[in-house]
Amino acid sequence: MEQIDLRLVPKRTLNNGEQIPCIGMGTFGSDHVSPEEVSAAVAGAIRCGYRLFDCASVYGNEDRIGPVLGDAMREGVVSREDLFIVSKVWNDMHGKGDVLLSCAQTLKDLRLDYLDAYFVHWPFANYHAPGCDGDSRNPDSKPFRVEDFMATWRQMERLHDMGLVRSLGMSNMTIPKLEAVLPLCRVKPALIEMELHPSFQQPELFAYCVEHGIQPVGFCPIGSPNRPERDKTPDDVNDLEMPQLREIAKAHNIHPAVVCLKWAVQRGAIPIPFSVHEKNYVSNLRCVTEDPLTEEEMETLRGADRNCRLIKGQVFLWPGADDWRLLWDEDGVIAQ
Ligand SMILES: NC(=O)c1ccc[n+]([C@@H]2O[C@H](COP(=O)([O-])OP(=O)(O)OC[C@H]3O[C@@H](n4cnc5c(N)ncnc54)[C@H](OP(=O)(O)O)[C@@H]3O)[C@@H](O)[C@H]2O)c1
Repeated sequence: MEQIDLRLVPKRTLNNGEQIPCIGMGTFGSDHVSPEEVSAAVAGAIRCGYRLFDCASVYGNEDRIGPVLGDAMREGVVSREDLFIVSKVWNDMHGKGDVLLSCAQTLKDLRLDYLDAYFVHWPFANYHAPGCDGDSRNPDSKPFRVEDFMATWRQMERLHDMGLVRSLGMSNMTIPKLEAVLPLCRVKPALIEMELHPSFQQPELFAYCVEHGIQPVGFCPIGSPNRPERDKTPDDVNDLEMPQLREIAKAHNIHPAVVCLKWAVQRGAIPIPFSVHEKNYVSNLRCVTEDPLTEEEMETLRGADRNCRLIKGQVFLWPGADDWRLLWDEDGVIAQ
């Protein structure tokens, strides 16, 4: 297996002084890649040089990834200090005490004694069964409430105080929600996960995070081409087919997927692409070490934004709410 020269993979420093690689690997196999395939890819990815892995309890594979991390450390491939392991609390574990329980289970499954970062996966305690139909609604779902979110965040802060979690993160947030909660946080988030790919650049949210010293982490960085059919709509843009992207890919003799990642890293995001194919995950890491995009190409891609959100989150809507845009506060106020 090709090993990437790690001295060439830049690191970023977070607002709490912790260091994190500028690219990582996603681990969400969804319903088409089994936990065994994901953990085999993690095993290969560590050996090729990945140090950052984006995990979550809801991905249902942390108990498979744990032994793989353990093997790599035992075999001396990597030390714990070199790894940056992320996990996230799922929506059904926001209740009092549950965040601590959820983190304990994740640590047990991943066979670790601390996490580098722990995220609130979604800012709602709105639960839906994995793989459920996009139109299904949970009658107990509610709109975002600052008090509910902060009750969850206080438990995140406890985990941080206990040393079980080194950095805290939020995910799927909006500027109005951040405006409401950031002043209340005793431990500020160091990272925010958000959907980011050339056709969905979220320039305002991205700039807001940077201005507040929070590192953006970009999920679906390639536009999640293999997401389940239930998560696709006829208006969705396929990033890999965008003419600007294809032209730049041709000029560099690389796959358009790799252009997405170079663009993300050069923009200052930390992309977390998912792949179970060695050829792909190796080229995804290698691409940040060589042949950068020109300023002109970066500018061309900046102009390629189509404001095309792919992960709409409609299953988290509450009864009576029928437009997924309500989850994203597009009117500039928190939707009720
Ligand atoms: N915080 C959140 O709410 C949230 C939401 C969604 C996702 N995430 C995280 O973000 C990660 C990435 O998102 P994602 O998996 O949906 O989408 P993605 O990384 O944009 O796309 C993954 C797909 O791209 C293909 N691919 C990867 N590298 C390639 C290459 N070099 N050439 C050609 N094709 C390539 C892969 O296929 P092959 O396997 O065939 O290579 C895979 O099916 C997830 O795994 C998860 O960890 C977080």
